[in-house]
Amino acid sequence: MKAHLTRRYMFSASHRLHSDAMSKAENAATYGKCNNQYGHGHNYALEVTVSGPVDESTGMVCNLLDLDRFVQREILQRFDLENLNNRAEFIETIPTTENLCTAIYDILQRGFTHAHLDKVRIEETMMNSFEYAGE
Ligand code: NI
Repeated sequence: MKAHLTRRYMFSASHRLHSDAMSKAENAATYGKCNNQYGHGHNYALEVTVSGPVDESTGMVCNLLDLDRFVQREILQRFDLENLNNRAEFIETIPTTENLCTAIYDILQRGFTHAHLDKVRIEETMMNSFEYAGE
């Protein structure tokens, strides 16, 4: 019996959308206000979905304590109250929320071993969200 578990986390970070490969005018045309040199912040809502068989002895897909501990240590400590542009993940990658989704998915995929990782979803604002579930 396979079941899914989705857990929600909140973090805040700033970013500036800017590509060194583009001219000033191209950056402004592509990213608009998000290219403003001072950056801006978001309160991100991150949802992590894992799945697997329900363990007969615990009745759980995955222990939330294990998931929380991993996300706290590997995701929230890395990105909460940070400027995403300064993080190693975004030195050569534009810190759009699409790319944030894939970066977080990759970190979880590499290190979280307690359940199968299905999907990462991030709400950037009330009006938009992004999902990544691997290739
Ligand atoms: Ni933004």
